[in-house]
Amino acid sequence: MIPQLAQFERVVFFTGAGMSAESGVPTYRGQGGLWKHYDYERYACQTAFDRDPEGVWDFHNYRRELVGACRPHRGHDVIVAAEQQLSRVTVVTQNIDGMHQLAGSTGVTELHGSLWRVRCDRCGETQSGYDSPLADLHCGGCGGWWRPDIVWFGDMLNEAVVQSAVSQISQCDLLVAVGTSAVVYPAAQLPQLAAKGGAVLVEINPEPTPMSALYHHHLRGPASEMLLAMAEGLALPPA
Ligand code: OAD
Repeated sequence: MIPQLAQFERVVFFTGAGMSAESGVPTYRGQGGLWKHYDYERYACQTAFDRDPEGVWDFHNYRRELVGACRPHRGHDVIVAAEQQLSRVTVVTQNIDGMHQLAGSTGVTELHGSLWRVRCDRCGETQSGYDSPLADLHCGGCGGWWRPDIVWFGDMLNEAVVQSAVSQISQCDLLVAVGTSAVVYPAAQLPQLAAKGGAVLVEINPEPTPMSALYHHHLRGPASEMLLAMAEGLALPPA
């Protein structure tokens, strides 16, 4: 039997790139995965940025254009409806694309930062905006390079963001992991906290993952269809 969202009070959706796949945002691994075509050592780490900031920005501006043309899907609507109609629903995401917020989710914790926020590489100032692609690559205050405020390979996650995710996940009674390969740490181990807290765990993914054994229910299909299958009793906006 498929667990229904409306039967739970404190729900966390823990999402990865597969959540945005049906919106047209490429995943990182598997068929058509971003890291198959782009070498992260050249485009997604601080050393690459120090060596060639413009080259790294070309890649991220390309991603901004790509993501800017994408729209949320029915699965995002289900998450928004759950947030609006159940008592405590949040999203903890590894995605940097802002698709949950575009759909209308407000309680979103971004573990890996945001493609739509920049941080000054010199003074640490941050700025957000849907300016796509970013035209001025330098901080207005100190003249340092803006860098995308996302967690690149080798970067530390923001401690306050991780603590917030830990607290939400430890206290939930349902955790729904959607579209993550569960191979990137420390994010991949966060769902274990929900298991420790006695929550019901659901994995939505067409493929098994190294963390599948942790989950009580496995919904093997695309995010939109599987989330709709959990949405009995929720009022959804017209399709
Ligand atoms: P991956 O690209 O590693 O995995 C995507 C997962 O989504 C795979 O397990 C697919 O089987 C699944 N999937 C594909 N289509 C789907 C669909 N329509 N519905 C549901 N699931 C689907 O993406 P992540 O696990 O998010 O980090 O990757 C984790 C991190 O690795 C990313 O945040 C990024 C990357 O390097 C940084 O950039 C720091």
